[in-house]
Amino acid sequence: MISELKVVAVGSGKGGVGKSLLCANMAIAMALSGMKVVLVDTDYGASNLHALLGISNPRFGLKDLFQQTELDPEDFLLNTGIDNLKFMSGAGDLPGSANLTPEQLSRIHELIRSLEADMAFLDLAPGNSYTNMDLFNLADEQVVVCTPEMTAAMNTLSFIKTGLFRKISGEFTDDREIHDITDYSRHLGSDEEVFEINRLRMKVLDKDKDALARLNAVIRNYRPHLVLNRVRRKKDLLMGDNVVQLARKYLEVETDFCGYLIESERIHDSVDEMIPFLIKDPQSPPSKNIQQIVGALTKMDIHLVKKDGAIYVSKQVKLTAGWES
Ligand SMILES: Nc1ncnc2c1ncn2[C@@H]1O[C@H](COP(=O)(O)OP(=O)(O)OP(=O)(O)O)[C@@H](O)[C@H]1O
Ligand SMILES: [Mg+2]
Repeated sequence: MISELKVVAVGSGKGGVGKSLLCANMAIAMALSGMKVVLVDTDYGASNLHALLGISNPRFGLKDLFQQTELDPEDFLLNTGIDNLKFMSGAGDLPGSANLTPEQLSRIHELIRSLEADMAFLDLAPGNSYTNMDLFNLADEQVVVCTPEMTAAMNTLSFIKTGLFRKISGEFTDDREIHDITDYSRHLGSDEEVFEINRLRMKVLDKDKDALARLNAVIRNYRPHLVLNRVRRKKDLLMGDNVVQLARKYLEVETDFCGYLIESERIHDSVDEMIPFLIKDPQSPPSKNIQQIVGALTKMDIHLVKKDGAIYVSKQVKLTAGWES
C-alpha cells in the first residue's frame, strides 16, 4: 500500500558539489528498502541525472509537460532497472529553459504531488534562482549540499537565506509591503542590511503583532537538512558545524546537519561507469554514508548487504534521530 507521498528536494548554492550523486543514491537506497520512489531531474537547463543511472537517452521528459497537455503522470515515468525506482527526466539542454513561469511551476508541482509513490527525490539545478527556490520550498524535506570549503559554505548560507526569504514573501502575498520587504532574493548579496533576520523582524514589528507572529512561525518551521560532501578528514566536518552556527546566528534557521559523504575514488569511478556506487557495493564506506543520511531523514536504520549479486535490506525504526561522526 502507498503511504502519503514525501517529497525530498536536494539543492545547493554552488554547482558541482554532488547533488545529483547524493540524490540518485539516496533514492536508490529508499527504493532498495522497499519504498516506491520517483527520482526527478529538475535541472531543466542542463539535465544529466539520467547518465548517473545508466540511462543514455530518456524517451521524453518534463519539458514535454509544457508542450503536450494530454499526458498522464505515468507517461513521464521511466524504468531504471532498479526495483521500485522510476525516473522522471528533465530532458533537454534547451537554452533558457531553466527559468520557468509560475504556470509551468505549478504544473510541475501538481504533477509531482499526483505521483503514486512513497517518496519523490528532486535533484535541483545549482544556485538560488526563483525557479530553484520554489522547487526547493515545495518539498516536505529540504536537503542542502555543501563541501568543506569557505566559498561553498558562504553559498550555502546565501541559498538558505534566499529559500527562507522566498518562503516568507510567499506567505505574505496578501501584504504588499511585507511581501516587498522580504522579496530580497532578487538582489542577493547586494544588501547587507537585510542579511540578519533580526533587522527584518524590526521592520515587520513596525507594522503589527500578527504579522510578527506569522513571520516567526515561518522561520521556526524552516528546517533544512545539511549534507557535507567530499569529506577527506574529520576536521572537514567542522565546516558543517560552522554552517549550522552561522545559519542560527544570522537567519535563526535551525539546520539539521544530518550526514556526510566522503571523497572517494569509488564515487568518481561510478560516474564514469554509469553504475551508482550504492548498487556496485552497498557496504563500501560511501554507501554506508548514504545509508546514514537516509536513516537520519527517515528516522530508520537501513542496512544494505549484497550477496550473490542480489541486494538485501534490513531496517529498524530508530529510537534517536542523531548521527555519529
Ligand atoms: N564524494 C565524492 N567523491 C569523489 N568525487 C565526487 C564526490 N562528489 C562529487 N564528485 C565528483 O563531482 C562530480 C559532480 O557531481 P554531481 O554531478 O553530483 O554534482 P552536482 O552538484 O549535481 O552538479 P551540478 O551543480 O552541475 O548539477 C561527479 O561527477 C564526481 O566526479
Ligand atoms: Mg546535478
